[in-house]
Amino acid sequence: MKACRIAILGATGAVGRTMLQVLEEQTDWEIGEVRLLASPRSAGQTLLFKGQPLTLEAVTETSFEGMDVVLGAVENELAKRWAPWIVKAGAVFVDNSSAFRLDPGVPLVIPQINAEDIFKHQGIIANPNCATIIALMAVAPIYRLSRITRMIVSTYQAVSGAGAAGLAELKRQIAQLEAGQAVSAEAFPVQIAYNLIPQIGGFDEQGYSAEERKLQDEGRKILHDPALKISCTCVRVPVLRCHSESITLETERAVNLEEARKAIAEAEGVRLNEQPYPTPLACTDQNQVEVGRLRRDCTHEKGIALWCCGDQLRKGAATNAVEIVRTWWQKQAAH
Ligand SMILES: NC(=O)c1ccc[n+]([C@@H]2O[C@H](COP(=O)([O-])OP(=O)(O)OC[C@H]3O[C@@H](n4cnc5c(N)ncnc54)[C@H](OP(=O)(O)O)[C@@H]3O)[C@@H](O)[C@H]2O)c1
Repeated sequence: MKACRIAILGATGAVGRTMLQVLEEQTDWEIGEVRLLASPRSAGQTLLFKGQPLTLEAVTETSFEGMDVVLGAVENELAKRWAPWIVKAGAVFVDNSSAFRLDPGVPLVIPQINAEDIFKHQGIIANPNCATIIALMAVAPIYRLSRITRMIVSTYQAVSGAGAAGLAELKRQIAQLEAGQAVSAEAFPVQIAYNLIPQIGGFDEQGYSAEERKLQDEGRKILHDPALKISCTCVRVPVLRCHSESITLETERAVNLEEARKAIAEAEGVRLNEQPYPTPLACTDQNQVEVGRLRRDCTHEKGIALWCCGDQLRKGAATNAVEIVRTWWQKQAAH
């Protein structure tokens, strides 16, 4: 199989660095040249890949030439700015921002759920929102037993979900508080240290935050189910890494708990953990999403309640993106 040449756009960020780590771990396909792109601030610095220093370059119009794939780990405006240049260079853009996710011409993919959509791409493939990936990985095994009609989700999202700046802010605020200093909030609307913030993104006219809308909008597209109903409350918590979610769902036909357990235990990329339950610390740096606390919803005969945790920098971003590339590349090689 030909070696796949991959550029990472935003290689110095929380997602970009995790992408480099996930690429290092690939064993069953060959990765050729790896090009690291970021802002001019990072140009000339190095990051290690398989023990060798790779020099960061400032992204320009010609940065994507000779690449098969560009993994996007920059914010929306930068993704939109560079997408035409990536497509023009003939590379496939696998983007982690939300810029293209709901575009009808752009597949939105979790390979364990809708891998077939990858092959409909026209140059861009979108990686879903991190909380959406973790929730859908947990519930898709149940959805395959019976369509899910409704979900109520509460999320507990780590500070690194807001990037390197979010991670630094929690650490800085804890140090400031320990030193008896005043705390300043920059990455989050208010102090996150020793606090919870029930806001991720701006609020719409109905009072939902941007993050809360993503779960329903993206969930419908990934599951090809425009009638799926999801109501969500997204909360930032002072955890460094891994998003956790409490999910109550209703199925079309009653699914018994043993069926649900078996389906989750057998699903690829998911681990059933009822000994005693998943936690963000235990899931940190793991590719799998863990599911536990499975129980009958005591308010509805077709309802199931569960708890899940997943590393949002891995399965919620880098791992999922690399799995998309691997699936696409291996299929190409087979033809
Ligand atoms: N964090 C998560 O858990 C997560 C999960 C899923 C999806 N995402 C999405 O993934 C993307 C990256 O998020 P992140 O958390 O990794 O952010 P981050 O830690 O803030 O990293 C941002 C990256 O963008 C680069 N950048 C900034 N300005 C640039 C410019 N003018 N030109 C080129 N590169 C520039 C930075 O490079 P410098 O270091 O040179 O400034 C850095 O590599 C975002 O769209 C985010 O919404 C994040």
